Amino acid sequence: MKIQRRTLLKGGLAAAAQYMVSCSKAGQLLNSSEHSLMNFRPVPFSMGSGPMPVISEDYEYEVLVPWGTSLQPAGPQYQHPQTEAAQAQQVGIGHDGMAYFPISDDGKRGLLSLNHEYGRNRHVLGKPEPDTLSDVRTSQYAHGVTVVEVAEYDGHWQRVESQYARRIHGNTKTQFSGPAAMSPDLMNKAGNEYRGTFANCSNGRTPWNTYLTCEENFDLYFAATGEFTPTVKQARYGLNKTGKKYYWERFDPRFDLSNSDYQNEANRFGWVMEIDPFDKNRIPVKRTALGRIKHEGAGHGVSKDGRVVIYMGDDDEFEHIYKFVSAGNYEDMLARGVSPLDEGVLFVARFDEGGTGEWLPLTTDNPALKKDFKDQADILINTRLAATALGATAMDRPEWATVAPNGDVYCSLTKNRDRTVPNAANPQAPNPNGHIIRWHDSDDLVGTTFTWDIFLMASDYFANEESFSCPDSLWADPDGRLFMMTDGDQRDGRCNQLLVADTNTGDVRRLLTGVTGCEVTGITSTPDRRTLFVNIQHPGDGDPELTSFPADFDGKTIPRDSTLVVRRRDGGIVGS
Ligand code: FEO
Ligand code: CA
Ligand code: CA
Repeated sequence: MKIQRRTLLKGGLAAAAQYMVSCSKAGQLLNSSEHSLMNFRPVPFSMGSGPMPVISEDYEYEVLVPWGTSLQPAGPQYQHPQTEAAQAQQVGIGHDGMAYFPISDDGKRGLLSLNHEYGRNRHVLGKPEPDTLSDVRTSQYAHGVTVVEVAEYDGHWQRVESQYARRIHGNTKTQFSGPAAMSPDLMNKAGNEYRGTFANCSNGRTPWNTYLTCEENFDLYFAATGEFTPTVKQARYGLNKTGKKYYWERFDPRFDLSNSDYQNEANRFGWVMEIDPFDKNRIPVKRTALGRIKHEGAGHGVSKDGRVVIYMGDDDEFEHIYKFVSAGNYEDMLARGVSPLDEGVLFVARFDEGGTGEWLPLTTDNPALKKDFKDQADILINTRLAATALGATAMDRPEWATVAPNGDVYCSLTKNRDRTVPNAANPQAPNPNGHIIRWHDSDDLVGTTFTWDIFLMASDYFANEESFSCPDSLWADPDGRLFMMTDGDQRDGRCNQLLVADTNTGDVRRLLTGVTGCEVTGITSTPDRRTLFVNIQHPGDGDPELTSFPADFDGKTIPRDSTLVVRRRDGGIVGS
């Protein structure tokens, strides 16, 4: 099937049309076949466009840690609109990537480390603009990361008292490490106290049990109160005079692009930050060796010789896919007191015709970078520009990447309405529904060449019962399933959804639909894979007339971003 797909791609549009026909026929046959990795009854397309989630009849869900849940049972209760003091001790909004770190032997008690990507002023503050610094702090505290302890008691999951629970938010003390840490381009005239993380999109986890949070659309939180014309480098990261109307810049000068005392503040965002969920006192570390992009996620693999490999998408139209390979065996590096995320090589992908590709090193000894970049720090702070200088492939918005047990890597390309010229890896122009690309690196993940194919084009499923568009979150499970969650317009106004694909056949089944106006995102499971955690982000985009989720719909109650605990009714493996 792989080879057939590549051959067809080379044949252009006619061949692509032919492929679509054969694919949908194959899908019908597979749906009716006896043997499948997914035996659950799917949510029919006719359902899934309302104020509450709909789940397969073979599954059930319950709600965990909605926005505003106190970190400790005795903490401040949620109320709307939020206050600065309460929000600092509560779960944030915009639930996105997350990871479950078990504490108990049975895996039913653990830490949930959870990203908070996004929270509009209207939703968080109950008004479109902040009036005070306290309002800005409330908004900043609603973003970032939560570490909260959860456990199953009497068959129900809940937040429990914890020595580990903490908030890391838009104003928390942070630090930098790796090759760019001491760069003058990270220094401000105002001083060098590093603070905050926000726009935390997808995530990763390391083999040494820490959490990686990825800063994505950081540019939206910066704006200028005075004159500001972005440099070429700033423009490439989307920085502009108006931002996305959070108005943090009005009361917090760090976010004012026209304030020359904070001239490099925006360079301090767009990183992967490492958090030790088991040590409240450890300051989170931004790992500069992984580059500065609009980081979507950080899916990892480990080579047989123990090098850690991190795959990362940069989520913008025509941006790139990256991987980082640690300099050595991660256990040896940790034993020497060196972070495996501080020493290694960052690469960017070039997908060639014919299903082959190359990882291009973003290093100072690469002749293509010598002239325009003054040092490694310059390359890492301006990773996007360096990647383009190397001829990396411009992709259709790379979102999550996940490594399957056989070493195949899957990456979602959510959509690109602005593409006019197709390339081999992004064959539709425009591409409103997105696709998922799959590659396999040479030399046990660490090689500089790879083979690739397109695992699926969402448009091939568009007319089917399993119709979906805009794949975003991904998780390859150990059995060959690929969990896919969507973020974007679905056919006929249906809600965003969680689907499961069989990576051997391309068969797809819908497990859950979210609520009106939400994104379904973030995925992690207990070690036994009997419990899955997924997120409902920005239900109704905060509009109570669309949904009151997780409360029953009444047209008045403000909806709250929440985690769903998803289980099979018979206690089986999730996705089966
Ligand atoms: Fe935060 Fe690209 O999704
Ligand atoms: Ca995403
Ligand atoms: Ca998205």
